Amino acid sequence: MRIVFKIGGSIICPRGVPDINYVKKLSKFLLEIKRKNDIIIVVGGGKMTKDYIRSTRTLNPSESLLDSMGILGARMNAMVVMASLGKHAYPKIVKNKEELEHGIFTRKVVVMGGTVPGQTTNAVAVAAAQFFRANLIIIGTDVKGVYDKDPRKYKSAKMIKNIKTQDLYRMVKVKKHVAGPLIVMDQVAARLLEKTKIRAILLDGRNLENMKKAISCKGFTGTSIE
Ligand SMILES: Nc1ncnc2c1ncn2[C@@H]1O[C@H](COP(=O)(O)OP(=O)(O)OP(=O)(O)O)[C@@H](O)[C@H]1O
Ligand SMILES: [Mg+2]
Repeated sequence: MRIVFKIGGSIICPRGVPDINYVKKLSKFLLEIKRKNDIIIVVGGGKMTKDYIRSTRTLNPSESLLDSMGILGARMNAMVVMASLGKHAYPKIVKNKEELEHGIFTRKVVVMGGTVPGQTTNAVAVAAAQFFRANLIIIGTDVKGVYDKDPRKYKSAKMIKNIKTQDLYRMVKVKKHVAGPLIVMDQVAARLLEKTKIRAILLDGRNLENMKKAISCKGFTGTSIE
């Protein structure tokens, strides 16, 4: 199988510094998956990046500048994962299609952060999956799945086990893209998912046992997006 993993900055860098213990466990897990599958890793920006964006936004810069900060922050987190993968990682954070093509060709593990303004790392993951002709996208984040409303704000929020891409798109649709959105999914990624029709599963990326179950389609906790 060809699998793209989007690992949330929310779990790589949950409190402003990278969680090295988790990163070590994650890279061990990913290398185990790589024995039987081809994989690409996309990493998000996390708390540090979102804090930078929030404080810099008070200076009224363009949204594109803030997005560029998000891209750099995600690349920093991607470098942490790359460091942990050691010689198994393609030795450069992949930034565009040409580099992606070359990285895939080397059969090393390609690690990406952000690419261009206007695209979250979720959208990067879907675009990379399309290029890679992936069979599955695993989106690991800090909640158990997609809920009917933000589970951090509403105790009554219910997790959705299965959601159609059109419904997901409708759910996350906002007037326009903003840098560093605090949401499990965003409209650009949801729209791309709808177009590419690649199966995606959103789950708690800290639970690697559960992630393993999701890959082998055994009973797992998370949201299937189809
Ligand atoms: N409908 C929803 N279902 C699930 N989570 C939601 C929903 N709406 C908002 N959220 C929030 O989205 C958060 C996850 O998104 P966040 O962007 O913080 O993490 P991430 O995407 O894993 O990290 P990064 O963007 O750094 O890669 C959750 O902690 C939750 O509070
Ligand atoms: Mg996010």
